[in-house]
Amino acid sequence: MINPAKTFKTERLRLRKAKLADADAIFRQYAQDPEVTKYVSWRAHRNLEETREYVQMCLLAWDVGKAFHWVIEGAEDKQVMGMIIARVNAEKWELGYVLARAYWRQGYMTEALKAVIAWALKQKEIHRVWAVCDVDNLASARVMEKIGMQREGILKCWSVHPNISAEPRDSFCYAITK
Ligand SMILES: CC(C)(COP(=O)(O)OP(=O)(O)OC[C@H]1O[C@@H](n2cnc3c(N)ncnc32)[C@H](O)[C@@H]1OP(=O)(O)O)[C@@H](O)C(=O)NCCC(=O)NCCS
Repeated sequence: MINPAKTFKTERLRLRKAKLADADAIFRQYAQDPEVTKYVSWRAHRNLEETREYVQMCLLAWDVGKAFHWVIEGAEDKQVMGMIIARVNAEKWELGYVLARAYWRQGYMTEALKAVIAWALKQKEIHRVWAVCDVDNLASARVMEKIGMQREGILKCWSVHPNISAEPRDSFCYAITK
């Protein structure tokens, strides 16, 4: 089982394993925000209790090696800004990521993902890091292009994004390999 880095440091950010005490900031910063959650695969949280349950699930997933959730925080102010998730499937990591609206368009997610991908591809067990995004999620597609992931195609009816529709929607598939 992969033993992932518990923290990553970049120029402006620190990524660290999520903890239960983050639930309050995660809820307040982005999990309830209809703009942030527009293209994600989970329903926007309606209350703090839902965010607590979510963080508990993150901790369990880390313990069993199924998925790793890192909170993104400001290196200086330690404010919770967002999260990066790596879901493990044998030699492949699938990434998910989300950032509070106040921090959009300042290069933060590009900076954070670069660090995670660089680490992942250095591990002998990990050969492919990939992610999908809704075909309308232009910011997410752009981030993946900026960090050197290749668009491999469109996955038709791939993913339900419940905050916009109950029907599965088409996704771009991006990947970077060893
Ligand atoms: C996707 C997301 C993480 C990007 O984070 P970010 O820190 O703003 O990303 P960056 O600043 O590193 O880069 C964003 C790029 O997309 C571009 N962009 C942003 N919004 C855009 C839009 N609506 N249309 C086209 N391009 C857009 C930016 O201009 C930038 O590209 P550039 O550097 O060439 O100008 C953030 O928008 C977010 O959290 N969205 C909601 C959650 C989400 O959709 N997560 C991904 C699920 S697949």
